Amino acid sequence: DSRHPHIFVVMGASGDLAKKKIYPTLWWLYRDNLLPPATIFIGYARSKLSIEELRSKCDQYMKVKDDEKEKYEQFWKINYYVVGSYTERRDFEMLNQEMSKHDNLSTANRLFYLALPPSVFESVTVNIRNTCMALQGWSRIIVEKPFGKDSQSSKVLSDHLASLFSEDQLYRIDHYLGKEMVQNLMSIRFSNQLFNPTWNRNNIASVLISFKEPFGTEGRGGYFDEFGIIRDIMQNHLLQILTLVAMEKPASVHPDDIRDEKVKVLKCIQPLTLDDVVLGQYVGDPDGTGDARFGYLDDKTVPEGSTTPTYALAVLRINNERWDGVNFILRCGKALNERKAEVRIQYKDVPGDIFGGKAKRNELVIRVQPGEALYIKMMTKSPGITFDLEETELDLTYQHRYKGVVLPDAYERLILDVFCGSQMHFVRSDELSEAWRIFTPLLHNIENNKIRPIEYIYGSRGPKEADEKCMQANFKFTGTYKWHKKHE
Ligand code: BG6
Repeated sequence: DSRHPHIFVVMGASGDLAKKKIYPTLWWLYRDNLLPPATIFIGYARSKLSIEELRSKCDQYMKVKDDEKEKYEQFWKINYYVVGSYTERRDFEMLNQEMSKHDNLSTANRLFYLALPPSVFESVTVNIRNTCMALQGWSRIIVEKPFGKDSQSSKVLSDHLASLFSEDQLYRIDHYLGKEMVQNLMSIRFSNQLFNPTWNRNNIASVLISFKEPFGTEGRGGYFDEFGIIRDIMQNHLLQILTLVAMEKPASVHPDDIRDEKVKVLKCIQPLTLDDVVLGQYVGDPDGTGDARFGYLDDKTVPEGSTTPTYALAVLRINNERWDGVNFILRCGKALNERKAEVRIQYKDVPGDIFGGKAKRNELVIRVQPGEALYIKMMTKSPGITFDLEETELDLTYQHRYKGVVLPDAYERLILDVFCGSQMHFVRSDELSEAWRIFTPLLHNIENNKIRPIEYIYGSRGPKEADEKCMQANFKFTGTYKWHKKHE
């Protein structure tokens, strides 16, 4: 329905997320002519700001090239700003008036991006519902985590939203679902006869899904400490990846068919216990430079003596016919040695070995970032006169195979999906509640009993106990495989 105007409202327009992610995303979509014609943007927040001031907050994140300057000016000409509280109905009426100015025929579609702290979430959604909904067009609400802190608080939030909006109006963002290789998981699995029949307990030993970041909480300690790495990364981003790796083939690519399968696989996972996890917290590296010298507890915004984990490894088991006995290892951490997110499907040892134990396990590696790639670690005859075995790879590295292709940012895809009304890459409420069911008892145990995380040094690979846990979970790391330099 691109004939109708679209009004995109950024709630919390003066905040961090808005300037770093939302406005840049809107600009890139506008720049690349991906938005419907006659789209305008309205920022809303408590701070009194002119468009000029808003613009100068965003400027450094927008990546405007020299030949885009004119278009950039045009972009800001279709931006508006309304100042108001998050609680007073009349302020939202003012917002509605501003929207109506751009909606002469009352046919505009309205999108609301809630880049807000959880404390104002309830009042804002009530006010939007009561005063700002589209008259003839549709209204869609985009929400960001945290979606509660545990099963109970998440249910309160879900019930609240469900009392105001229908599920098809709600777009819960997990931005990992907007990443190229995460979206590729379904294509890889269900369009290759090579993989599909071996995707099960008969062939796969274990699956390792990991997220590593080379920096600490960097002043976000206040937010982070209340949530911890399990809620920040594992319960959402990594679990979403797990569902896409493990779910059965959906009846079709319809969003609800896919999400039905995701929910089904989550239902087969038992809640985690302390025995299933290794927790860590980083300490400063006395030999490091800059931030690396400071540990999590040195961050001024972190409460003294906090036991919040900044690293976690968890072993999940999926109790169904396909996966019984296969461990799914989720691993994530801050202040580690590198930035990397990947999925590693490790195959079993070859039965009836004739090579004296020299054959190493096959692995299918899906590298989400940086440098999107898909490669299979495999054995080959060492080229030449010998009859030795050698570890090598079948390699699909995007920057080589798809030279010059520009992959959109996750937020670009997802926001565009909201315009298009596609919920395929968004989290449905029953998915969310299953995710919390798996993690809530563990989180409560960690918090009520103040379980001490294991210290690891800023810039290291994390606690060595995590490597041991991986081994016990039937993920074999031999350290013998060498990634060929040319791939980098
Ligand atoms: C966010 C987390 O959801 O994801 C951050 O809150 C984390 O702590 C970020 O840094 C990582 O996202 P990306 O896209 O940079 O891997």
